[in-house]
Amino acid sequence: MQTLTRKRILVGITGGIAAYKSAELVRELVRAGADVRVVMTPAAKEFITPLTLQALSGNPVHHTLLDEAAEMGMGHIELARWADLLLVAPASADFIARLAAGMGNDLLTTLFLATQAKLALAPAMNEKMWLNASTQANVQQLQQRFPDLAWFGPDAGQQACGDVGPGRMLEPVGLAQLAASCFEQNVLTGRKVVITAGPTREAIDPVRYLSNHSSGKMGFALAAAAAEAGAAVTLIAGPVNLPTPDRVDRLDVVSAREMHEAAMAQLGAVDLFIGTAAVADFRPDTLADQKLKKQDGQSGMTLTLVQNPDIIASVAKAEQRPTSVVAFAAETQNLLEYARRKLDRKAVDWVVANDVSRQDIGFGQDHNEVVLVGKDSERPFGPASKHQVARWLIEQLSASFHA
Ligand code: PMT
Repeated sequence: MQTLTRKRILVGITGGIAAYKSAELVRELVRAGADVRVVMTPAAKEFITPLTLQALSGNPVHHTLLDEAAEMGMGHIELARWADLLLVAPASADFIARLAAGMGNDLLTTLFLATQAKLALAPAMNEKMWLNASTQANVQQLQQRFPDLAWFGPDAGQQACGDVGPGRMLEPVGLAQLAASCFEQNVLTGRKVVITAGPTREAIDPVRYLSNHSSGKMGFALAAAAAEAGAAVTLIAGPVNLPTPDRVDRLDVVSAREMHEAAMAQLGAVDLFIGTAAVADFRPDTLADQKLKKQDGQSGMTLTLVQNPDIIASVAKAEQRPTSVVAFAAETQNLLEYARRKLDRKAVDWVVANDVSRQDIGFGQDHNEVVLVGKDSERPFGPASKHQVARWLIEQLSASFHA
């Protein structure tokens, strides 16, 4: 269970007799090297005390949504961001029903809605409750809505109430192993990944520049996903207003030429290079030392632009070329045709095509829809959150990369 080392696991406990096993689960996870925090529903506290879980996890237990002290420290949004995995064990019939209804009426359901972490449920309830049509419909609905949500169990056998059948929570050791398996796609362990993200700014004078609407979200999500997959990640970021993802080295740059220089300086032992940055193709040919002043009677102005270096093409054609080079293609029409042209022209291995004419995806949005275009393949994904798109891309790219 080496994969649990330093992983941040949020264990959610709901009200059910199996809650007593959660103490053992927390112990197993901590033993495996995970950093564990516990969130309990009010009903869970009827079965096991927060004090026990605090002692076992070594961290304060969270149980209320509106807790002033917690909001100043580790509030619900921080907790949602902190976690690598949210594992609810036991997940009661009531909790599953509330999730299926999309509710956020306590800390745990709110975290489920707010987190970008991996999600897992370990159902535990009486077998008739598990087999009840309502519970089964809720389970199906969640499976459709959250295809990445992992279901750990339930197990079948003798239950606390004496009935025999499906509905028993899996044993803590088994649950800890399943939690570890969530991270086993550590497909990039030992690999070096470089990602460019955000816009570039091309100065006209000391106060003006040419740029575009890239927020950096797609590139930052990719950096987080690559780090999650075990890679050593360097993120070369244009001017954006985003926090650096955990376990990622960040280099801030402003112009295309600075980004080019930073990218080329990384080459040597790079396994995967991904260009999500919206790099300005052109820059003003001269940079005025002083702010340009409008002259009396001036009705227009002409800027002469010169071409910037093509970063991704330089990387793909470099002597110390990374094993795999991936460009993005931001298109407003003929998505696949233009993406294919970029694949050839820039000599990259893959192009991730996205339609930036749409309002719901692309520049600045939290969602995207992409087609991963290879020499002889086209794989669509989304619409989905940029984090989900990033995880999918890392999975796809690393699979082909290993092949
Ligand atoms: O940052 P977000 O708000 O999350 O938005 C994400 C995004 C829309 C910016 C992203 O998904 C995206 O499409 N990025 C590529 C934007 C772009 O400049 O596309 P392009 O088709 O013009 O360029 C093709 C490729 O060449 C890109 O990989 C680009 O990084 C690279 N390029 C372009 C010009 C240049 N001088 N050097 C380059 O490396």
